[in-house]
Amino acid sequence: MKPAPRDSVLAIDPYVPGKSAASAGTANVRVFKLSANETPLGPSPSAIEAARRAIGEAEIYPEGSSRLLREAIGARHGLDSARIIAGAGSDQILELLAQAFIEPGDEGVYSQYGFLEYKIVILAAGGTPKVAAETRYTADVDALLAQVTDKTKVVFLANPNNPTGTYLSAKEIARLADGLPKKTLLVLDAAYAEYVRADDYEAGVALASTRDNVVVTRTFSKIYGLAGLRLGWGYGPAHVIDALNRIRSPFNVSTPAAAAGIAALEHREHLEAAMAHNAEWLPWLTAEISALGLDVLPSVANFVAIRFPDAQGRRAADADAYLTKRGLVLRAIGAYGMGEFLRLTVGPREANERVVSALKDFMQGAHD
Ligand SMILES: Cc1ncc(COP(=O)(O)O)c(C=O)c1O
Repeated sequence: MKPAPRDSVLAIDPYVPGKSAASAGTANVRVFKLSANETPLGPSPSAIEAARRAIGEAEIYPEGSSRLLREAIGARHGLDSARIIAGAGSDQILELLAQAFIEPGDEGVYSQYGFLEYKIVILAAGGTPKVAAETRYTADVDALLAQVTDKTKVVFLANPNNPTGTYLSAKEIARLADGLPKKTLLVLDAAYAEYVRADDYEAGVALASTRDNVVVTRTFSKIYGLAGLRLGWGYGPAHVIDALNRIRSPFNVSTPAAAAGIAALEHREHLEAAMAHNAEWLPWLTAEISALGLDVLPSVANFVAIRFPDAQGRRAADADAYLTKRGLVLRAIGAYGMGEFLRLTVGPREANERVVSALKDFMQGAHD
């Protein structure tokens, strides 16, 4: 006999992060990690400085409610800080939502190529995951609504979605919210919202302001470049935020993370530079890689999913090995049922140019 976790815990396939830089290339090749949707601009220098200062007082517990950070987020986004909860990454907010709203016998819905964390948090809470088919690698509102039953407690939707990069318009999201029972919570995960330039997109903040059953989650890991500090937040109706506050651990956000987040919000130019960099290179990568005869899903985020042919020596796994050898670390997304794709994060200019040139060689058959 030994202590046994719940069956639903053992049903979880652990999340496998993208390859790290260290696992790639040879000693004399410069390695670019383009596998985790991290920003090539890094964090704002003022965020680094704020975190450094905070570390100097590391013996003191954080202020448990992350009040200053919530106020800074509220001021920046025009939101009531009492309806914001901060977390150790937006992953933690997703976990708290599942734990607070799903119990064994309940269902959680997400879309076919939706961010894998949803399945994990639903199972971890003892719930049953239900998957809605996508149309052209894009979430489908009708398919999502068709999965909703009397047992559905939460619908998770990444908008834009990782790993596809596709999105739903504000109108479609409103249609989804309108179609859900009042007792079903809609979680709009807007981890990549800052990158989106489409006019018909909205992160979900407006809906979360006015509906009793809509929450939005955001992160400092992507465009703000603070992934290593673990900082994210959620915003929604007071009764939902109250439930999450009851179950979160009392000091769930570290002082350096909160301090860095506040400084990052203040540094507008850095954010704008990151947006401009992506606006330049996302279309460039999409066009250049498409011109090589590869399908690239239309992405509005800071990454693209590239489909490789089902042909000897040209498959995604071949391309992954080929690129890795050249120090270009992309993300295999077989775990999403997209084994014929690799996901490429928009990197610095040099990395982007190297990827296109290496893919050109790969497609022309310069294999080794
Ligand atoms: C769609 C989506 N949501 C949430 C996250 C989690 O981000 P974090 O926990 O770093 O805030 C990610 C990270 O990859 C993501 O792609």
